[in-house]
Parts: sequence; C-alpha cells; structure tokens
Amino acid sequence: MFRTRRLVLKALWLCNAFAGLFYKCYLFFARGVDVSLLADLNVWQRRNLRLGRNVTVRRGCIIDAPGGSAITLGDGVTIKENVHLLTYGGPGIAVGARTTVNSFCILYGHGGLTIGRDCLIAPMCVFIPANHVFDDTRVPISRQGVKCKGIRVGDNCWLGTKVTVLDGITIGDNCVIGAGAVVTHDIPPDSIAVGVPARVVKTRGEGIDHGGHGAHGGCTERKEVFPEFSAVTMR
Ligand SMILES: CC(C)(COP(=O)(O)OP(=O)(O)OC[C@H]1O[C@@H](n2cnc3c(N)ncnc32)[C@H](O)[C@@H]1OP(=O)(O)O)[C@@H](O)C(=O)NCCC(=O)NCCS
Repeated sequence: MFRTRRLVLKALWLCNAFAGLFYKCYLFFARGVDVSLLADLNVWQRRNLRLGRNVTVRRGCIIDAPGGSAITLGDGVTIKENVHLLTYGGPGIAVGARTTVNSFCILYGHGGLTIGRDCLIAPMCVFIPANHVFDDTRVPISRQGVKCKGIRVGDNCWLGTKVTVLDGITIGDNCVIGAGAVVTHDIPPDSIAVGVPARVVKTRGEGIDHGGHGAHGGCTERKEVFPEFSAVTMR
C-alpha cells in the first residue's frame, strides 16, 4: 500500500516535471520568455501567470500563484537566482517593465504587491504585504489569521540590499532606499530614505552632480581604492 502510494506520487511528480519542461520550452521559443529549467514554476498555475516579452527568470526561483492570485511580470523583467514570488492566494504580485529583482529576494502577495517600472531591487530584499493578527492572547498567533493592506513601489526606485518593506506602505516614484532599511511609513517620491525605521534623509536632485550615466556592470565613478590591483593582469 505504502509502496503504491509512493509510486503514484513519483509518477505525478514526473508528469509535473515533464509538463513544466515543455511549458518552459514553449515560453522560450514562442513567447521570448526565458524561465530557467531549474526554476520552480507550477505549470498547472499557468493561467495565473502573465509574462511579458523578454522576461528572464533564473535558476532556483519559486513562482507560486495558487487560487485566484496573479503574478504579472512586465516586458524585460529580470528575476535573478533564488527569488521567491509567493502570492499565498492573495491578489498577487505585479512587477513593471524592465525592473530587476536581484538574488534571494522574497516577494509575497497576500495583500497585493506592485513594483513599478525600471526599478532595481538589490539582493535579499523582502516585501511583506501582510501582518499576523495577534490581539487575542488566549489563541495562538498562527490561528488568528492575517490582515493585509498591500504594498506599492513606484517607478524608477532603487532599493539597496536587505531592505524590508512592510504592509500598507507606498514608496513613491524615483526613490532610493538605503541598505538594511525597514520601511514602516510611506516614502514620498524622489526621496532617499535610510535606517530602521526608514527616514527620509535627502531629496534626489538636490545638490547632486549629474556627471555620469552608465549601464549596470561598470562604475561610472571609479575610485582607485586598491592601486595594487592595477598591476594585476587578468588571464
Ligand atoms: C543610501 C545610499 C545610496 C547612500 O546615499 P547618499 O545620498 O550617498 O547618502 P550619504 O552617504 O550622503 O548618507 C547620508 C546619511 O545617511 C546615512 N546612511 C547612508 N546609507 C545608510 C544606510 N544604508 N543605513 C543607514 N544610514 C545610512 C549616512 O551615514 C549619512 O548620515 P550622516 O549624515 O549622519 O553621516 C547608500 O548608503 C546605500 O545604502 N546604498 C545601497 C548599496 C546597495 O545595497 N547596493 C546593492 C547593489 S544593487
């Protein structure tokens, strides 16, 4: 009996793996969407996934949108290695065109999460559009349910590494959030906010030298901090 159950489960797992493989190939060749064969994308939830053109999802990612949830990734979105997008049956997650979500970020969608266009989300950021209810001291917190308001991040925002954004927060367009910040209040557009809790310390465009523009991968303003490295020849 136990053996039969194990065999059935294995067969189901294999079916799912093959169906996923075919679905990812279809996405790649027919739709220009590159979902790594090593990403965990549940093929049976494909109706809940809206993937734009030239979307890339790297290996180790988990994309889970059960029930009526939706995950929308706009054109040119890049989801790097080991990112989790988990809707928990809520309204879901939407990421705007050309936004990059870096490795090991966790995006939840219980209360709805919208990230705008052209954003850079550094590694290990967490977006949690939900809070456990904990009013009743006689009932375990795990049984009191959750309340959700949702999170919105505007266009052209850069969130440094390990930023945590809590439920109910709106981050306006063009904001920079410093590494390690915990965002507990709304952040107005064009702000630079840092710390725990995140406080606005500057407004972008004030007293800034607009000297350089550059694509990711090359520092526009490079200080020779390690002059000894200039003598090293790369092979
Ligand atoms: C926010 C950030 C962009 C700096 O912006 P900036 O405009 O150059 O700000 P400054 O360095 O002038 O700092 C302004 C103040 O905020 C403080 N500050 C800067 N970054 C901070 C941070 N992450 N957490 C807490 N305080 C910070 C500074 O100490 C300074 O305070 P002071 O005036 O009391 O000395 C930068 O510090 C940062 O956090 N970068 C993220 C890097 C990263 O995660 N990269 C991932 C690669 S994708």
